[in-house]
Amino acid sequence: MRLEGKVGLVTGASSGIGAATARFFANEGMAGVIVADINDELGAQVMSEINEGGGNAIYVHLDVSDEDHWQAAVKAAVAKYGGLDVTMNNAGMSVPASRKKVEDTTLEIWNAMHAVNATGVFLGMKHSIPEMRKRGGGSIINTSSIFGIVGSGSGTAYHSAKGAVRTLTKAAAIQYASEKIRVNSIHPGFADTGMTKDLHAQPGERERRIALIPLGRMGLPEDMAWGAVYLASDESSFVTGIELVIDGGTIAQ
Ligand SMILES: NC(=O)c1ccc[n+]([C@@H]2O[C@H](COP(=O)([O-])OP(=O)(O)OC[C@H]3O[C@@H](n4cnc5c(N)ncnc54)[C@H](O)[C@@H]3O)[C@@H](O)[C@H]2O)c1
Repeated sequence: MRLEGKVGLVTGASSGIGAATARFFANEGMAGVIVADINDELGAQVMSEINEGGGNAIYVHLDVSDEDHWQAAVKAAVAKYGGLDVTMNNAGMSVPASRKKVEDTTLEIWNAMHAVNATGVFLGMKHSIPEMRKRGGGSIINTSSIFGIVGSGSGTAYHSAKGAVRTLTKAAAIQYASEKIRVNSIHPGFADTGMTKDLHAQPGERERRIALIPLGRMGLPEDMAWGAVYLASDESSFVTGIELVIDGGTIAQ
């Protein structure tokens, strides 16, 4: 019961890392979990699983790049559970058209990648902070990536957006530390989720990535979710502005 009594909102919670985190948040005793995503069908399933398992969750349709959606989602959280203590800005995307070098990246895909992966995080913080202030503090967890720290042969716009999340997190951490609103980023390494399904199905690609991981296996959504539980809990009450890399050692070498 590491999160007993807290209220937490997780974006991109219909699948992968977000779904695992929403489940862990509920298992650790959260009083309310807001499962937020654009995939309503899967999101409703995650919500039902949590509620059937004795937790307390609602689902809200939230496109993180839409400010009106954010206002409505935070309002729904407060209406249902009376406040907001934790926001995990986790929704993100990478598609074949974004896995390109600089010259091959269209402005359209550049903008679309930033809208979700970077602007979505900004809006999530902007609309969560006023509610956290009313509670006397809170924890914001932003999902970046190891690709927000190091480069690779493609994924130009993804690298840029995830890099933005890395320093945006530190800026917010400094701005709101005096109000006990902590802001940290998680940097997942390679993991099997909805986002990487097509990539990891390509011949040899999954094996090539595993060869880059010193701990010798692909990451699981749960590996990342444990990090989110720590950052959401009071165990991390002296932790703000950090980048928690969860990658099996990939970028340590
Ligand atoms: N899987 C990896 O290898 C990996 C590595 C590093 C970072 N990440 C990051 O982890 C986060 C979670 O991704 P995942 O790997 O669990 O993938 P996933 O595809 O399983 O989950 C992402 C979720 O985000 C949702 N989403 C997409 N666009 C959205 C929008 N505009 N508004 C709201 N929700 C939206 C999707 O519907 C989906 O449910 C992402 O930010 C991703 O960039 C993943």
